[in-house]
Amino acid sequence: MILVLDFGSQYNQLITRRIREFGVYSELHSHKITIEKIKEMNPKGIILSGGPHSVLDENSFRCDERIFELGIPVFGICYGMQLMSVHFGGRVETSNQREYGKAEITLGNNAELFAGTPDGQTVWMSHGDKVAEIPEGFQVDATSPSTPFAAMSDPSRNLYGVQFHPEVRHSEYGNDVLKNFVFNICKATGDWTIGNFIEMELEKIRKEVGDKKVLCALSGGVDSSVVAALIHKAIGDQLTCIFVDHGLLRKNEGDEVMKVFAEDFHMNIIRVNAQERFLSKLAGVADPEKKRKIIGNEFIYVFDDEASKLKDIDYLAQGTLYTDIIESGTETAQTIKSHHNVGGLPEDMQFKLIEPLDTLFKDEVRALGTELGLPDHIVWRQPFPGPGLAIRVLGEVTEEKLEIVRESDWILRDEIAKAGLERDIWQYFTVLPNIKSVGVMGDGRTYDHTIGIRAVTSIDGMTSDWARIPFEVLEQVSRRIVNDVQNVNRVVYDITSKPPATIEWE
Ligand code: XMP
Repeated sequence: MILVLDFGSQYNQLITRRIREFGVYSELHSHKITIEKIKEMNPKGIILSGGPHSVLDENSFRCDERIFELGIPVFGICYGMQLMSVHFGGRVETSNQREYGKAEITLGNNAELFAGTPDGQTVWMSHGDKVAEIPEGFQVDATSPSTPFAAMSDPSRNLYGVQFHPEVRHSEYGNDVLKNFVFNICKATGDWTIGNFIEMELEKIRKEVGDKKVLCALSGGVDSSVVAALIHKAIGDQLTCIFVDHGLLRKNEGDEVMKVFAEDFHMNIIRVNAQERFLSKLAGVADPEKKRKIIGNEFIYVFDDEASKLKDIDYLAQGTLYTDIIESGTETAQTIKSHHNVGGLPEDMQFKLIEPLDTLFKDEVRALGTELGLPDHIVWRQPFPGPGLAIRVLGEVTEEKLEIVRESDWILRDEIAKAGLERDIWQYFTVLPNIKSVGVMGDGRTYDHTIGIRAVTSIDGMTSDWARIPFEVLEQVSRRIVNDVQNVNRVVYDITSKPPATIEWE
């Protein structure tokens, strides 16, 4: 295991990610982690991350500096290198100009960290301060025109530092640098797989839970499904899942969830059919934010009602991912957005939380789901908003309008699947903009609804572009929708990127 200490750089999660891609398990922890805990983890190497602060500032982040006495290789990146320099008696100064972007470095000594990489290479810099004097016993491994100490090391003490960010793709040989540290210096073996993770987690869950009971809110989304499958594998019937069907799911989705978890996995699962409860609360409400609030609150009421009927539940399982925690702001990273799972828990919650996916990235969760035997339609499910189809029916939500969206969405999904495009498009769905227009069908005039198709490509949902679906596929979708879906006489395609539009229409 390689331990990464978090000093607040936005790139930190990339470090752990790259290392895991090499097949070596790695975790990111707060710089405040205690030395005892680190000893317990017994890492093969420690990486000190970058961060937004200046080591010259007295209140800047520090870690327990006894890490340097553990005899474990330590690799400081940017702020981490500066911290190491100051600790060992070097000098750091604030440069009057922040160096940001690509830089050319030239290698000096036959540095272990750069083994197998060319003498001149491009790296990615992002720093204000820099090392002005390296500590005694260290050698200079690389320089750049503006950074005389772009890399340093003291191999006799297993200490290494770079001023640039090897975890960022723009650092041409960054992966090699990380690999050299992980494999050559730390002697890690690249045999970590998602299968090992399962074994590790099963044991942890069993140890933590003992003979107690766990509750899980299952939505049918990837994260909650994988959590449920994992915990079920660990403790079987001690797990109960509550699946709130708010009537705002896509066609057949509720039944599919039940089929997988109740029939195939034989889990204790309570399906709450709360369609009417949600629809009556939504009646007459057209404002998008109000709709979201009503659905969010109602969800919690329904879940609480059901949970309170169960006896002796001690734990609540959640599908919180690593990125959710990072995006909600760790102690060190800036808050980008608050995430429902982390920020929105009721304050009087009496359950203890278990969040077994909180060290994983989305693609790792998918791999885990597959390994646990979940079907592709769950593992590769597209992101689906909590408020469901209610925010794809613009304005007031009625059962008739939901039916139009559900049917048209099903046709779109079917055609995308037939065209083999499911994994190329981040999200694809239909919306009912709530406008009617004139059409002609047979010999008669019609005055009916318009359906909008929204399909986007994206990496993380924060920005997106409209998907270039082949015209033939669009044609087929349009033809089927106007023929087969009642009360629709027109289909349009949304060709807006995000920003300025959002992915959902409400
Ligand atoms: P927008 O519409 O903001 O959506 O561009 C970005 C991503 O977030 C999803 N989304 C939600 N997910 N609860 C969720 O769990 C919500 O209220 C919600 N609103 C939007 C959206 O589907 C897209 O993937």
